[in-house]
Amino acid sequence: MTDRYAVIGNPIEQSKSPLIHTAFAQVTGQDIEYTKVLGPLGGFAQAVDAFRLAGGRGMNVTAPFKLDAFAYATDLAPSAQLAGAVNAMKFDGDKVYAENFDGVGLVRDLVHNLGCSLQGRRVLILGAGGATRGALLPILAQGPAEVVIVNRTAVKAQELADLARQHRSGAVPVSGMGYTDVTGAFDVVLNATSASLTAELPPLSLAVFAPACLAYDLTYGKGLTPFLKLAGQAGVKRLADGVGMLAEQAAEAFAWWRGVRPDTRNVIEQLTVPLI
Ligand code: ATR
Repeated sequence: MTDRYAVIGNPIEQSKSPLIHTAFAQVTGQDIEYTKVLGPLGGFAQAVDAFRLAGGRGMNVTAPFKLDAFAYATDLAPSAQLAGAVNAMKFDGDKVYAENFDGVGLVRDLVHNLGCSLQGRRVLILGAGGATRGALLPILAQGPAEVVIVNRTAVKAQELADLARQHRSGAVPVSGMGYTDVTGAFDVVLNATSASLTAELPPLSLAVFAPACLAYDLTYGKGLTPFLKLAGQAGVKRLADGVGMLAEQAAEAFAWWRGVRPDTRNVIEQLTVPLI
C-alpha cells in the first residue's frame, strides 16, 4: 500500500519538498506519495488531523507553522526542543513524534558534501532566530574550538548562547554578542539571519573571514547574496548557499520515516542555482 506524506505551509506553492521526496522514493524503491498541503492560517491542527485521519504517516512543516507543530507534537526530540520549532512529524496512533532536522542537515552538508570539518574550528553564526536555534546543537556536537553567535539585537544572541551552554554542559565555549563586539577571524562563517531573503547585508566586518574560510548562507536559491558577495570581497574562495542543507534535512526526515537514507547528490545538482 502506498504510504502518504506531505509538507504543510502557507504559502506552499514554492516548496521543493515534493520534488525532493519523490526523487528519494524513486532511488530507494519506497512506495510513497508526497503532496503539498496549504494549511489555513489559524487552522494548522485541523489540517493535520484531517491528513492523519486519511492515513497520512508523516509531514514536513514549513513557515508559518513550525511553532504550531511544536505545540501539536506529543513527543519532541531534543533538536526540536532547543530549536523551539518542528520541521518534521511522524504519526503513530495517538503519538506525534517531532524533530527538527535543519541543524543536522546543515552539518551534514558542511562536513560531508563540502568537506569542511568543524572540529577544532572557530565558527561564527550570524543571527539569533529560529535558524540559529535549530543549528546550534548539531554544530556544538562536532566539537568546534569556539562558537560565536552575533546578532543585531545582542541580547538575543547572549540568551541563545546561555541556552546552548545549558544543553551541552560547557564543553565548547559559546558566546553571544553584537556585531561591533566580534573580534578575530573565523574558519566558518554561517549566515543564519533572514537578511538574504530581502537582499540585505548584516553589518559585518571583513576581518571576520579567515583566509581559508568557508562562508555559507543558509538561504537557498538567491544566487550570490550580499553576505556571500562581502565574503568574496574579503578574499574568501569557498562560498556556499543552503541548497545542500535543504536536501540533507529532507534526507534525514526520509530516513526517519522509511529506515533508508537516500543519496542527495542528484537532488542537489537539480536544485542548485549558480552563485553568480
Ligand atoms: P528565522 O526563523 O528565519 O531565523 P527569525 O526568528 O525572525 O527568523 O530571525 C531572523 C534573524 O535574522 C534575527 O536574528 C534577526 O536579527 P534581530 O534579532 O536583531 O532582528 C536577523 N536579521 C534579519 N534581518 C537582518 C539584517 N538586515 N541584518 C542583520 N540581521 C538581520
